[in-house]
Amino acid sequence: MPNVFGSPHKGNDSRHEQVVFCQDEASGLRAIIAIYSTALGPALGGTRFYPYGTEEEALADVLNLSKGMAYKNAIAGLDLGGGKAVIIGDPATDKSEALLRAYGRFVQSLNGRYYTACDVGTFSEDMDLVARESRFVTGRTVANGGAGDSSILTAFGVFQGMRAAAETVWGTPSLRGRRVGVEGAGKVGHRLVEHLRDDGAEVVLCDVSEAAIERVRTRHPDVEVVADNAALIAAGLDVYAPCALGGSLNDETVPVLTAKIVCGAANNQLAHAGIEKQLADRGVLYAPDYVVNSGGVIQVADEIGGFDFERAKARATGIYDTSLKIFGLAADEGVPPAAAADRLAERRMADVGRLRGILL
Ligand SMILES: NC(=O)c1ccc[n+]([C@@H]2O[C@H](COP(=O)([O-])OP(=O)(O)OC[C@H]3O[C@@H](n4cnc5c(N)ncnc54)[C@H](O)[C@@H]3O)[C@@H](O)[C@H]2O)c1
Repeated sequence: MPNVFGSPHKGNDSRHEQVVFCQDEASGLRAIIAIYSTALGPALGGTRFYPYGTEEEALADVLNLSKGMAYKNAIAGLDLGGGKAVIIGDPATDKSEALLRAYGRFVQSLNGRYYTACDVGTFSEDMDLVARESRFVTGRTVANGGAGDSSILTAFGVFQGMRAAAETVWGTPSLRGRRVGVEGAGKVGHRLVEHLRDDGAEVVLCDVSEAAIERVRTRHPDVEVVADNAALIAAGLDVYAPCALGGSLNDETVPVLTAKIVCGAANNQLAHAGIEKQLADRGVLYAPDYVVNSGGVIQVADEIGGFDFERAKARATGIYDTSLKIFGLAADEGVPPAAAADRLAERRMADVGRLRGILL
């Protein structure tokens, strides 16, 4: 069982402010909402609807994901803390209006300490339903005043991070003529391919879904497709962009990586602690995942004050400067960029979060 009241001194990291278990038997809702930190403002993070094998698995996931959101929101410069929620069940069979609205009432009961959004297994249309019971919902459909599909600015932000990495490694913020391997041509991946092609990059692609590949090939018949991620990594890349699942940087892939830059949208790309150092030792510049994929949360966070796409895009453009700053700090302090990013996020949570101690 994960240790919710953990202490960092005892070797775990479960310093969450609040963890709420929510149940509505009639609709079948079983959800856990975890708030890691409200130091910078209300906790924001999506709702994952997933058929977890056990409650322990669901709890471990939500604790981990909510901490990640605190760091992501801090580094993105948002006045938002970190939280996340999981609904236990199969979204294909268990999702219903009653279940989502029951969930919405639990979100509302937190009175704004937690804002929810989409994640794996939940979509903007689901958020529209949750929003019928709660004011603290983002990622709704555009028709309902929402920010819509967050993968638009996620892909844009990853591209900004990649430009910053190119500037750091090759002295120019351009991917022109570079060979970029995109793993996963889903919502984010296929949009990233557009940015790369517009910039003049050569794209190599892999995806387990034939339909996902075809969508890209229809627009760009000259994109090279390889069988799987092992073939992609071995494809003589300049840049590797993991945009499918987490864990793609591991003890098998890192030693054979030819790319000089890793920059992609997938969450939790580093399979375990220590991989960031292996990458640095091999001279590979790793753009920390939660920094470069923060365009999505920037997009949905903008909805809180009334959505304005251009304003959100301008903020996501800042991922370029933030990434440059992290690469610079990493070089100055002699640590991998992942560690530099954590330090910056923790510093902002401490420095800005502390200001609430000034009585108004
Ligand atoms: N959508 C967002 O706004 C957003 C924001 C931040 C982070 N992310 C992360 O980015 C990643 C992609 O998100 P998405 O919204 O594009 O998801 P998606 O489900 O639309 O796309 C994922 C794609 O990866 C493919 N895939 C799955 N397993 C694969 C494998 N082993 N090898 C190659 N391809 C594989 C799938 O077929 C699919 O086309 C995820 O890790 C997600 O958590 C997404």
